[in-house]
Amino acid sequence: MNKLENLSSESNLIADRVFVRSYLDKIPENRQLSEQENADYESKIIALLAKKNAALVAHYYTDPLLQALADKTSGCVADSLEMARFGSNSSATTLMVCGVKFMGETAKILSPEKTVLMPTLEATCSLDIGCPIETFSAYCDQHPDHKVVVYANTSAEVKARADWVVTSAIAVDVVEHLLDLGEKVIWAPDKHLGRYIQNKLGAQGDEMLIWDGACIVHEEFKLKALKDMKHLYPDAAILAHPESPLPILNVADAVGSTTQIINAAISRPEQKFIVATDSGIFYKLQQAAPEKEFIMAPTSGDGATCRSCAQCPWMGMNTLQNLYESLLNESNEVHVDLKLGKRAMVPLQRMLDFKQDN
Ligand code: 13P
Ligand code: SF4
Repeated sequence: MNKLENLSSESNLIADRVFVRSYLDKIPENRQLSEQENADYESKIIALLAKKNAALVAHYYTDPLLQALADKTSGCVADSLEMARFGSNSSATTLMVCGVKFMGETAKILSPEKTVLMPTLEATCSLDIGCPIETFSAYCDQHPDHKVVVYANTSAEVKARADWVVTSAIAVDVVEHLLDLGEKVIWAPDKHLGRYIQNKLGAQGDEMLIWDGACIVHEEFKLKALKDMKHLYPDAAILAHPESPLPILNVADAVGSTTQIINAAISRPEQKFIVATDSGIFYKLQQAAPEKEFIMAPTSGDGATCRSCAQCPWMGMNTLQNLYESLLNESNEVHVDLKLGKRAMVPLQRMLDFKQDN
């Protein structure tokens, strides 16, 4: 494993690590707005989007109010791969990215000529902060015979150090493609997704080296509690995001990105689903399959304390209020150094081209 383990406490949970806690401690409480306040913000945001030729690009884990607004204004609500694609294909000159830092950076790298704004620049991701460029780059240098494949949930610097960037929608396909070519792979930063890919493709020994990172939301799903729930709903299919721990993925009926989870809910014959991912996705799930029932997968075992409760604390930092303020003042602009962006563009473009070719 890597040097990061030295930074960890006794616990295997990423949320317990000192450096992740220091980011979590900084998250402010959101003020609950009244219906009237929400409606006022919505109409002001709609007017500003039109005035500034801006498009709203929101992730499925953001507040349903933001997702609804993105839909209403012909923006996009999507998984991280489609968010990237929408941003680079959009005719808008400003992209307002509601999500976390890596999503804003990806949009800027793919569209350096566009203004990219975010409701807050403080919304990060435990995978991104668990993969600092210095340690990661040194690790890659120790394994020069390995192709470097990084998840999109990483900084621009880490992307620029990689041969490939992937999202959960195509991670298995890209690693399979590389192993078929006889390549060995460093996978970073999500260890759960890494183990899932390793298992699925039967990668042996050092064919796949896996970084020790995790998502604080998905690592809270527990097998025992999930099995208990399945006893209560024996007819329900389990849908899981591949950032969940392997025991969860092993019992899931479908594993995939947020979009793939929604598609599975639409196309599968079951009427009930236990869903192991951030609860923000329920808004789109219910819209996509209104006749079906969706149940949140349990996030803690017996006696355990829930740290995330299936709600990404960083996604939750995006609100109507800070979205409005950012758009009005053109504040919270995402900047990526041009040279760095050009280097990060190469593995990102590889990802976009791969998906189109396959
Ligand atoms: P998707 O690529 O499936 O949207 O996932 C992004 C993410 O951050 C999941 O936690
Ligand atoms: Fe990162 Fe997990 Fe939040 Fe996604 S849900 S942004 S992986 S911390």
